[in-house]
Amino acid sequence: MNLVTLKEVQHRNDYMSYLLLADESEDIINGYINEGELYVIQCQDKEVGVVLFTFPSIDTVEIKNMALAEKVRGHGVGKQVLNEAVNKFSKRNYARLIVGTANSSLGNLAFYQKAGFRFYEIRRDFFLQYPSSIFENGIQALDMVIFEKTLLV
Ligand SMILES: CC(C)(COP(=O)(O)OP(=O)(O)OC[C@H]1O[C@@H](n2cnc3c(N)ncnc32)[C@H](O)[C@@H]1OP(=O)(O)O)[C@@H](O)C(=O)NCCC(=O)NCCS
Repeated sequence: MNLVTLKEVQHRNDYMSYLLLADESEDIINGYINEGELYVIQCQDKEVGVVLFTFPSIDTVEIKNMALAEKVRGHGVGKQVLNEAVNKFSKRNYARLIVGTANSSLGNLAFYQKAGFRFYEIRRDFFLQYPSSIFENGIQALDMVIFEKTLLV
């Protein structure tokens, strides 16, 4: 798989369709879409997804949303984006990278652990604020599982 690059973008609403692949409520996305830094993920100079980083505290970066077009998934692009994030924010002296996913997102739970993230915190009932119930893998999304990866050693 070819090298993945991240290109920062300004016209954020143009990327709503990607953001909705990772977070199904447009209202909730609108609550954070203008925070932090939004990057288009490019592979071989083609746009294949987006990643939004926010900064919940002075030493912490959060992957608030990350989504790839369905056709490019499963080929190592997501893993390369996480590596890029680690490189980028280590250089900027952030201490930790965090990301939240649902208790029901079994694939994402595997994806982040394979990339070296560790369980950090549970935000109980986080997904009950969504306008309709979310089920994945026959499990209701209730809690947000927060993962952490330490950037500074
Ligand atoms: C989650 C997502 C970004 C992963 O990107 P990807 O390019 O498909 O993942 P990769 O191919 O880089 O996978 C990296 C590793 O994670 C594993 N993995 C990825 N998705 C997985 C899944 N659904 N189930 C089990 N393992 C998975 C891969 O097998 C691979 O393992 P390896 O290192 O042993 O080879 C992508 O599937 C996506 O955009 N999903 C929809 C939106 C979403 O849910 N975003 C996450 C919000 S928290």
